[in-house]
Amino acid sequence: MGTPGLVPLLLAPLLLGPASAWRNASQRTFEVSYGRDCFLKDGQPFRYVSGSMHYSRVPRFYWKDRLLKMKMAGLNAVQTYVPWNFHEPRPGQYQFSGDQDVEHFLQLAHEMGLLVILRAGPYICAEWDMGGLPAWLLEKETIVLRSSDPDYLAAVDKWLGVLLPKMKPLLYQNGGPIITVQVENEYGSYFTCDFDYLRFLQKRFHYHLGDEVLLFTTDGAQEKYLQCGSLQGLYATVDFGPGVNITAAFLLQRKSEPRGPLVNSEFYTGWLDHWGHPHSTVKTEAVTSSLGDLLAWGANVNLYMFIGGTNFAYWNGANTPYAAQPTSYDYDAPLSEAGDLTEKYFAVRDIIRKFEKVPEGPIPPSTPKYAYGKVALKKLKTVEEALDILCPSGPIKSLYPLTFVQVKQYFGFVLYRTTLPRDCSDPTALSAPLGGVHDRAYVSVDRVPQGVLERNKVLTLNITGKAGATLDLLVENMGRVNYGRFNNDFKGLVSNLTLDCDILTNWTIFPLNTEDAVLSHLGGWGGHGGGRHVGSYAHSSSSYTLPAFYVGNFSIPSGIPQLPQDTFIQFPGWTKVWSAKQLLLLTETVRSVQGQVWINGFNLGRYWPARGPQVTLFVPQHILLTSSPNTVTVLELERAACDGGSLAPCVVELVDKPVINATLAFDRLPAQPFGHAAALDQA
Ligand SMILES: *[C@@H]1O[C@H](CO)[C@@H](O)[C@H](O)[C@H]1NC(C)=O
Ligand SMILES: *[C@@H]1O[C@H](CO)[C@@H](O)[C@H](O)[C@H]1NC(C)=O
Ligand SMILES: *[C@@H]1O[C@H](CO)[C@@H](O)[C@H](O)[C@H]1NC(C)=O
Ligand SMILES: *[C@@H]1O[C@H](CO)[C@@H](O)[C@H](O)[C@H]1NC(C)=O
Ligand SMILES: *[C@@H]1O[C@H](CO)[C@@H](O)[C@H](O)[C@H]1NC(C)=O
Ligand SMILES: *[C@@H]1O[C@H](CO)[C@@H](O)[C@H](O)[C@H]1NC(C)=O
Repeated sequence: MGTPGLVPLLLAPLLLGPASAWRNASQRTFEVSYGRDCFLKDGQPFRYVSGSMHYSRVPRFYWKDRLLKMKMAGLNAVQTYVPWNFHEPRPGQYQFSGDQDVEHFLQLAHEMGLLVILRAGPYICAEWDMGGLPAWLLEKETIVLRSSDPDYLAAVDKWLGVLLPKMKPLLYQNGGPIITVQVENEYGSYFTCDFDYLRFLQKRFHYHLGDEVLLFTTDGAQEKYLQCGSLQGLYATVDFGPGVNITAAFLLQRKSEPRGPLVNSEFYTGWLDHWGHPHSTVKTEAVTSSLGDLLAWGANVNLYMFIGGTNFAYWNGANTPYAAQPTSYDYDAPLSEAGDLTEKYFAVRDIIRKFEKVPEGPIPPSTPKYAYGKVALKKLKTVEEALDILCPSGPIKSLYPLTFVQVKQYFGFVLYRTTLPRDCSDPTALSAPLGGVHDRAYVSVDRVPQGVLERNKVLTLNITGKAGATLDLLVENMGRVNYGRFNNDFKGLVSNLTLDCDILTNWTIFPLNTEDAVLSHLGGWGGHGGGRHVGSYAHSSSSYTLPAFYVGNFSIPSGIPQLPQDTFIQFPGWTKVWSAKQLLLLTETVRSVQGQVWINGFNLGRYWPARGPQVTLFVPQHILLTSSPNTVTVLELERAACDGGSLAPCVVELVDKPVINATLAFDRLPAQPFGHAAALDQA
């Protein structure tokens, strides 16, 4: 593979320690042997047994722990994606430090003795917002993503010019851990089938990484996928899970690559979840039995995922018909979301041990978890009351609604405001055509909650109010479609809203900078306490409350030396499998049902226990403080039982066990579960 690089190192071999411990860069090679149907590492046949870990889903604080656990399972490589939007949140604004320090992550893998399979994008899928593509690409509304659209290529070119030079020194042949680099991802499953685009990527990858780099593609094990996804010069690999006919799957790889190593780039250890769908699991025996077969074939395999981790903040993606993925990306993987060793971990390790040398020595234990207990929250301000802090630069006026991208607010929330053009003393239909609200809108008139519009689910809502009353829609982006044709997923009000038959106009649009507002405690802890009182009249006959911020604090107990420890946050009353009897207790225990939660300004993600299956959110210990109280901030969007005059305080609870597999009794309840439960309660 190419000619050896520089020679100077050869001149000073004595300075470099034991011969076994070093190889200078020019001797390190990683290539495909078409003669021997395998990879060659430094000229020797080599097979990788790899696991996926996405550094973007695990806090930097825990990278080393997770990598070490992977190493101790007998893996010799780690596979990661690089999510472009994680590193370039706005055009030309790059982030490569802290949790975004991909070079540090790769160095850690290297120090651990793990090789790296780098899936550099630009598109990654990954159940990640927009498949890793930055939303700002949609500023050109007609852009064709993942094609030779010149504006798309220009942005990709610029990004690769930033990312790939950072990766070059980390290539195996340059002394680093990266053995192979994936171009695009499952491109054959996309509709464009644009070989000029793949050729463009191939050229740019070689331009930045050199001719020696081993580039590859991955596609589903179906002929049609490999047809559009593979390209001469990019080594074609396949992905498939347990239970698939391995002979048949590799026969398909052989159609593209008659010789060379067999590679399953994504062997599924579990599967993904969606809000409102049952939690996915894959039985350990199914994983180990197929893994044993794959290894017996001599195939190279990457276990997807080995640790799934967490979609913190707003990073989850969605599938179509629109279904957003939850905050947890546990994936039923061998290491749990919180990095815990599972039965699957040890079973997988036992299989690997039959084929490869597994390191001796202790496996780092699961980290201890601590139940800090209940935290009382008080209502601080409604979103409407906090607009000056949430939107310091002021609103944008527009005759018709603008999308999130048009107001350059890519994640979270935008508030759309207009006035009722006429009296609606009788219930009047506020409607969004199919797909008009992306993704949920919390509707109020003169601060009286009216209900929720939801993409593809609730398209019409009856509202009441007087002419000139303020109509507010707080619109939430629940994550952009990450897979398939429709990942150009615009957010906000993407079409006009109508009141009966009239198009609503003259909008005042507030892009909300929620993260900074939360960091500033929304302008202070209560202050004049106005929020509380103003909020207290904001009741209506509906069971909704106005979207509002709630805050509380808790201290780490002193005198316990191992603290702080990881924990899980839950919203009490929602953890149970619901029986009819438990339903009786429901109205008492319901505190909050859907929103976003932060601790000390760290955005832990979306909670939605009412829809499930996820009930608790992972709280890594490194965000907790021992020197001062920890602040919990909750933005509850729909319904908080503690609002206004209620006697019950709002409560969240920090527990020591995760629940991500709640039974979805909610979906099977009558259409008005709260009314129903309340009725039972009276009985
Ligand atoms: C697996 O696929 C191969 C090749 O298509 C086929 O010959 C074989 O019968 C299949 N095995 C099973 C169990 O279906
Ligand atoms: C809205 O109100 C009208 C008239 O009261 C009623 O017929 C209709 O079913 C309501 N629609 C919704 C979506 O509640
Ligand atoms: C809203 O309606 C107006 C007038 O029919 C139209 O020009 C405009 O494009 C529509 N806007 C959206 C976002 O659909
Ligand atoms: C929208 O605003 C314009 C300019 O202020 C005004 O002329 C028009 O009457 C308004 N339309 C509605 C429906 O309020
Ligand atoms: C933290 O919570 C305690 C108890 O609820 C309260 O007395 C205290 O004022 C809170 N601290 C802050 C900074 O709000
Ligand atoms: C959820 O997972 C836990 C832990 O694996 C298990 O004990 C429990 O039975 C599961 N619950 C449901 C409803 O599947």
